[in-house]
Amino acid sequence: MPFTPDSDLDLLFPANLISPEVKSQLHPDVHIRPLASTDHARGHLSVLSVLTVATDLGEAAWVSQFNAMRAAPKTYYSLVVVDKASDRIVGAGSLFVERKFLRGLGSVGHIEDIAVDKQQQGKKLGLRIIQALTYISESGGCYKTILNCSDDNIPFYIKCGFERKENEMAKYA
Ligand code: ACO
Repeated sequence: MPFTPDSDLDLLFPANLISPEVKSQLHPDVHIRPLASTDHARGHLSVLSVLTVATDLGEAAWVSQFNAMRAAPKTYYSLVVVDKASDRIVGAGSLFVERKFLRGLGSVGHIEDIAVDKQQQGKKLGLRIIQALTYISESGGCYKTILNCSDDNIPFYIKCGFERKENEMAKYA
């Protein structure tokens, strides 16, 4: 499939929120942009499946979730890295902005669901995704950007400039 430019896509958030510095440092074979409404067909869920079981409920259900996210302004920022030769997604990541009553009505950026296709790991795509999401968080005024990860991924996030802080608790339904 030929590469689709941002101007031909229906994007989750404005493309100018992607850091120009990150774009300039990105591997030349790939492009970083906001998630688009047609990205189900570009393998978005396949890339996310490196994280956990990525159940596919079909394109219509996927688009409905995309639209629900876009209807909450300045809250959901999912981005993707696209291989220019194939127009397929090879990396993905999300930022969720939480508004607070504390910290002078401040906001916190939560990084979630970082995934790089197995064939493309080790090419700094994960680093660029984290840098791009952190840029959106900080330029949007978040006073901190946080995430949860396994012990195995701690060295990766330290290389991305994060530090270890407190513990994660979880209760699954
Ligand atoms: N342990 C040690 N160092 C690592 C690791 C690791 N597990 N992963 C990456 N690094 C290092 C790299 O060697 C590189 O170091 P360098 O700058 O000295 O060369 C640096 O971190 C940047 O690595 P990238 O090439 O950007 O990493 P990559 O593109 O492979 O992405 C990622 C890393 C996202 C963890 C990828 O391996 C992946 O998708 N793994 C499976 C899914 C996953 O675990 N996702 C993260 C879940 S946590 C969350 O979503 C908040």
